[in-house]
Amino acid sequence: MKITHVSAECYPVAKVGGLADVVGSLPKYQNLMGYEAQVIMPFYNNNFVQNQNFSCVYEDELQLGEKKYLFKIMKLSGSKLGFELFLVDIPKLLFTDYVYSNEDSERFLGFQIAVLNWVSTLKKKPSIMHCHDHHTGLIPFMMTQCIKYDILKTISTVLTIHNAQYQGWFSHKKVHLIPAFNFNNVGLLDWDGSINPLAAAIKCAWKVTTVSPSYMQELILSANGLENLLHHESAKCVGVLNGIDTEVWNAEKDKYLLKSYKLSTVQSGKKEHKKYLCKQFKLDATKPLFIFIGRLVGEKGADLLPEVFKEVLKKGNCSILLLGSGHDNIENDLNQLKNQYKGNYNCYIGYNEKLAHIMYAGADFLLMPSRVEPCGLNQLYALRYGTIPVVRSIGGLKDTVIDISNKKEGVGIVHQKVEVKEIIDAIARAVNLYESQPVFKKVRKRGMQKNHSWEVSATSYINIYKSLIA
Ligand code: GLC
Repeated sequence: MKITHVSAECYPVAKVGGLADVVGSLPKYQNLMGYEAQVIMPFYNNNFVQNQNFSCVYEDELQLGEKKYLFKIMKLSGSKLGFELFLVDIPKLLFTDYVYSNEDSERFLGFQIAVLNWVSTLKKKPSIMHCHDHHTGLIPFMMTQCIKYDILKTISTVLTIHNAQYQGWFSHKKVHLIPAFNFNNVGLLDWDGSINPLAAAIKCAWKVTTVSPSYMQELILSANGLENLLHHESAKCVGVLNGIDTEVWNAEKDKYLLKSYKLSTVQSGKKEHKKYLCKQFKLDATKPLFIFIGRLVGEKGADLLPEVFKEVLKKGNCSILLLGSGHDNIENDLNQLKNQYKGNYNCYIGYNEKLAHIMYAGADFLLMPSRVEPCGLNQLYALRYGTIPVVRSIGGLKDTVIDISNKKEGVGIVHQKVEVKEIIDAIARAVNLYESQPVFKKVRKRGMQKNHSWEVSATSYINIYKSLIA
């Protein structure tokens, strides 16, 4: 079985969020399981790409309305990623150092057309085209509707929704940019008066998955306008929990860590990283250390953090360290707290993969007060590194973090609402837990023993593919 993943992001080639982590690891596990999985994504002009060798495997011209664009399919040399990587190089459309901008419809449409032009010419065609998020959402439509791609009609398509907030809307005025199709079926592209690539994919893909089972149920109630569509299509929709790359996220081998550790040495391993972090960021290492890592946006509940931190820091019974970037006003508020609460609070505004790894290793608790969390990977990294997650019960967080009120299975602290008071109460429960060290250690150990590697979920995807091919 040959599986082609199509995505805008893939770690370590280009990463904006968790989508990249998933597309950079799932295919690796599928190959390890004996299937043939590959990734195709846009060619961005970034550091990673500039420092690799590629060979051109295909060259052609694509048509976007009146305009024609030359493009090349470049294959990464060597096999260091654990899967074959192909980049679509359309110099006049995709040669950018960023992944997303405010006007992406033509960039990603051009990318998808190039992918299908190439796939149409392959002798060994994929058995499955696995599309991720709206940037690749027109592929299932074009494969079933465009005359030009008739030859691809019988190939099964899967859409995975990592985030349904973004849908890639564009105006019907641009419909002529899509290769010719029977116009009676234009409704397949439409949702609420615009062309909606995510909606088109939900309608046309053979199977739709979300990155956790709870997120699937939540989308039927709230999906930025697509609730009814998802309800209508629910028979072909299923939630498959993401896994994590346990080779990258392994405290025994992690190249970013100061010292390796495992379950039996977790106490000393974490202590050393906590000491380092507290020294670097001038924090009190005798108190429980809480961290937040992520985008500073409303979806992640980050807008409430300044107020939450102020209240919590007044009590003076914990240390807090934050890493992330996002809305200017949230960044400013978080920066300002630094002067007021020196010694107990600090933040690093930006993105720093190495620091993130050290923070998972050194912290006692990870905060994730998300309003929306399709799966969430940070809580899984935290569990594996012995950092207890404090999360809002939503999406993948609900599916992976059991509250400590369950004395046998609890691995974290769970709150129900995204409200300042609830988050403060959850932090207070965490501080209490820290004070009874024997229980704290038991909970931590249980979390570290959880297996969230891809092995389980990669099998679920394979079973989905098999059901389609059969
Ligand atoms: C998106 C979601 C996140 C999920 C990730 C990978 O970034 O917001 O919850 O873990 O995709 O699927």
